[in-house]
Amino acid sequence: MNAIEVKNLTKQFGDLTAVNHISFEVEKGEIFGFLGPNGAGKTTTIRMLTGLLTPDSGDIFIDGVDIRKNTIKAKMKMGVIPEMGNIYVDLTAKQNIIMAGRFYGISKRELDKKADSLLEQFGLYERKNDPVRTFSKGMKQRVNVASAIVPDPEILFLDEPTSGLDVQSQRLIRNIIKEMNQKGTTIFLTTHNIEEANILCERVGIINKGKIVAIDAPERLKRTFDKTQSVEISFHKMIDGSLIEKSGLASRMEKLGDKWKFYTDNPDKLTKYLVRFAEDQDLTIISMNICGASLEDAFVKLTESKDYAD
Ligand SMILES: Nc1ncnc2c1ncn2[C@@H]1O[C@H](COP(=O)(O)OP(=O)(O)OP(=O)(O)O)[C@@H](O)[C@H]1O
Ligand SMILES: [Mg+2]
Repeated sequence: MNAIEVKNLTKQFGDLTAVNHISFEVEKGEIFGFLGPNGAGKTTTIRMLTGLLTPDSGDIFIDGVDIRKNTIKAKMKMGVIPEMGNIYVDLTAKQNIIMAGRFYGISKRELDKKADSLLEQFGLYERKNDPVRTFSKGMKQRVNVASAIVPDPEILFLDEPTSGLDVQSQRLIRNIIKEMNQKGTTIFLTTHNIEEANILCERVGIINKGKIVAIDAPERLKRTFDKTQSVEISFHKMIDGSLIEKSGLASRMEKLGDKWKFYTDNPDKLTKYLVRFAEDQDLTIISMNICGASLEDAFVKLTESKDYAD
């Protein structure tokens, strides 16, 4: 049995079809990423999956339980980390975690122990008795995640869990996600951070304008767009990229910070040309990489053109 099964799910807001007849399955034990640009319908979908929003049509089964018929039973199986968080800022970090656990009927003593161990794990132990109001954004999000995982849910839903956080907090949260998954929790997360989907998810679904345009493993999605290869190069000083483009070996170029990225269908020829160019111009090459298609390239291709969505 699948952890999540969605059939023909649709949600309309006035004239806008935010989610348009989407269907997919998430296997037990999987980390599934739901990837899409702003306004694609990710939050609307996750709100329906977690019983916060009623669909106009379609079916949702959580571990075999129809969420519309048996909302409480389905909800007992899940931990949810919503886009805006669901913590109470006037309560302390520990009180928030304890309150979240009560809903699932965990005993007081067990909950107290568990809350302390989570606070420790999330680096919040010293601040556990401070009201969350006094926390930074990253600290609040840690409380959010800790509260959602206190009952050891079978399925964890996260809506952009690392958005706007620093690298340390992002890593902490990603590690928790991986740990939970290793213990058997199915993960459904939305993100527009492609790298996050790439490193965390076994499969990703890409949603654009309410429709699913692709579902596959990240590496396979990349391979669909194999032809886009590129060479990334940086010299000890910035050069005029059009000098390279003139060679006719690059179809497109892009300046990325202190580097140039040249798209090509012949990376071998282009790299040799770049080496000769550096010698002629007396330039030191600091770095040079041949890059295959990235998940970002696939994502942009899938979400830019309307043809894919229809
Ligand atoms: N309660 C609402 N009332 C009216 N329109 C809504 C409502 N909620 C969402 N929408 C619209 O539905 C569309 C999808 O929104 P949604 O929040 O699901 O996008 P998202 O993929 O989560 O985007 P983001 O990456 O910005 O969080 C948007 O056009 C949005 O304006
Ligand atoms: Mg959203």
